[in-house]
Amino acid sequence: MWSLIATWKMAYDGVCQGAEMLKQGINVKDAVEKTVQIVEAEPSFTSVGFGGLPNEEGTIQLDGAFMDGATLRFGAVGAVENIASPVHLARLLSENEFNCQLVGKGAKKEAQRLGLQQIDLSTELSNSTYLKRKEEMNQELRSYNDHDTVGVVGLDQSGHLVAATSTSGLFMKKDGRVGDSPIIGSGFYADDEIGAAAATGVGEDIMKGCLSYEIVRLMKEGDSPQKAAEKAVFELDEKLKRRIGKAHSISVVCMNRFGEWGVGTNCPFAFVIADSNHEAKVYYAEPKNGNVFIREVQKEDRVD
Ligand code: GLY
Repeated sequence: MWSLIATWKMAYDGVCQGAEMLKQGINVKDAVEKTVQIVEAEPSFTSVGFGGLPNEEGTIQLDGAFMDGATLRFGAVGAVENIASPVHLARLLSENEFNCQLVGKGAKKEAQRLGLQQIDLSTELSNSTYLKRKEEMNQELRSYNDHDTVGVVGLDQSGHLVAATSTSGLFMKKDGRVGDSPIIGSGFYADDEIGAAAATGVGEDIMKGCLSYEIVRLMKEGDSPQKAAEKAVFELDEKLKRRIGKAHSISVVCMNRFGEWGVGTNCPFAFVIADSNHEAKVYYAEPKNGNVFIREVQKEDRVD
């Protein structure tokens, strides 16, 4: 049995490749990293990796993380510049006993030391989108078109779980702003003995609920992945609305150690699943009356 789930339709090609690797018996670390890297490398996905959207100063700063559910080791990078694959750097850092979470200049310096290629991450599309947005700067800050973090959770045939994330974060964020994606327990969590989760949406809200850890905790208490994801997202959404008057978009994908998956969201949200019994498919989730309604969509359908 193997299983792979990822946020957003943009992860479809990555999930197809990751699924093929898991099918062949390749370990989940390689499969999840590959899934994320395929999204990172595609310049038309402007919320992740190469061609990601810049911060308000016009600089692309990326966040990413990688967690191994077998050892609980994790690596994370925040606001790192000129690195095409934050998830790769995060995976390398996850091998460290110390210094597994690095930000800004330090993360870039470590990437250089490790021999990772330094590149200009901007594209015509990311530049023109930035310049256009600069003219409209009085608009409210929001995630770019809701295509946000790629978050991937996978289980391999040996029963190992991995969670990973990668994002350019909130469009027009402040220099040095770090969201939930590289924050353990918020943007991601994985424990082979229970399950794993990864989040997408507005980091400032996701972090208030330590959402990924909360979902794994609920699974430990006996909730199914779907129940855990719905409960954690709806409770956080309700609490934020009650305490501060609003909640931004929050979505999660998760999986338990048996490869059963779940999705929680407070906004329309697309995701991709493949497992040993099903080829990769895109699904669309919508919250309604305290439940999440999920339907399969065609790859060609216009959902984000
Ligand atoms: N979820 C990505 C971010 O808020 O940066």
